[in-house]
Amino acid sequence: MYSSFQITKKYLRYYLTAFNAKGHGIHSPFVFDFIKNVLRDKKRYGPYHIIEAARQQLLKRSATIEVADLGAGSGIIKTNKRVVADIASSSLKPVKYAQLLYRIVKYYQPQTILELGTSFGITTCYLATGNANAKVYTIEGAAAIAGIAQETFDGLQLKNIELTEGNFDDALPVLLAKINTIGLAFIDGNHRAAPTLNYVQQLLQHSKVATILIFDDIHWSAEMEEAWTSIQQNPKVTLTIDLFFIGIVFLNPDFKIKQHFTIRF
Ligand SMILES: C[S@@+](CC[C@H](N)C(=O)[O-])C[C@H]1O[C@@H](n2cnc3c(N)ncnc32)[C@H](O)[C@@H]1O
Repeated sequence: MYSSFQITKKYLRYYLTAFNAKGHGIHSPFVFDFIKNVLRDKKRYGPYHIIEAARQQLLKRSATIEVADLGAGSGIIKTNKRVVADIASSSLKPVKYAQLLYRIVKYYQPQTILELGTSFGITTCYLATGNANAKVYTIEGAAAIAGIAQETFDGLQLKNIELTEGNFDDALPVLLAKINTIGLAFIDGNHRAAPTLNYVQQLLQHSKVATILIFDDIHWSAEMEEAWTSIQQNPKVTLTIDLFFIGIVFLNPDFKIKQHFTIRF
């Protein structure tokens, strides 16, 4: 994992060089539409405040839970006994990105959504409310964390979420065999190159024309940057958008030429 100094330097470079207009001047009607109607959509949608209230509750919980460290994403907290509030402040996707995921789901209306890495389920709630008719499958390996996520889903009465407790390596193939094709997948756990690329291979076999894949922390470490480059080069990948903290992949053979965009967000 890069040091915070390295990340800051990289972020500054991204911030200064990324495309930063409302969309005019971008040579892709699809990306223009994405910027205008999804990325820069500033409306306050109904579920935002309800889900953020659930996040606030988690940020106040001082109880400790026993957590097995499964992935490479736990650079901030090393011990196995963790305070719920600490996990909520360090592991959950920040509001801005979680709400972007909501808007992506709301706009493109994927029917089958998969999340690798539930944590306490805040982003899962955004995915599930973006399209109430979609089914959201989410996998979490740490039992105590998964338990709290389920409480969150029950508390918000979200019935379209199915939480699987288990390691991605075991749970993903089983789930994919069951759900067949994926409309959108959010890969947010085990931030290492080999497992990430392995999940991508599996997800691509269950993708269709309009599948959207979203990767967290693509600039978090040298190996995640390598994984992101390899994803961009995959022949099935036609369009990618780098927002620094997340990378979005659109699989659409209608886009005849491969295009990669870096956009300020
Ligand atoms: C960054 S958090 C997910 C945050 C959540 N998606 C959100 O946006 O709020 C990553 C989660 O993935 C889980 N995880 C990491 N590697 C895993 C693996 N190999 N199998 C199952 N769960 C894993 C961790 O326990 C952790 O809760």
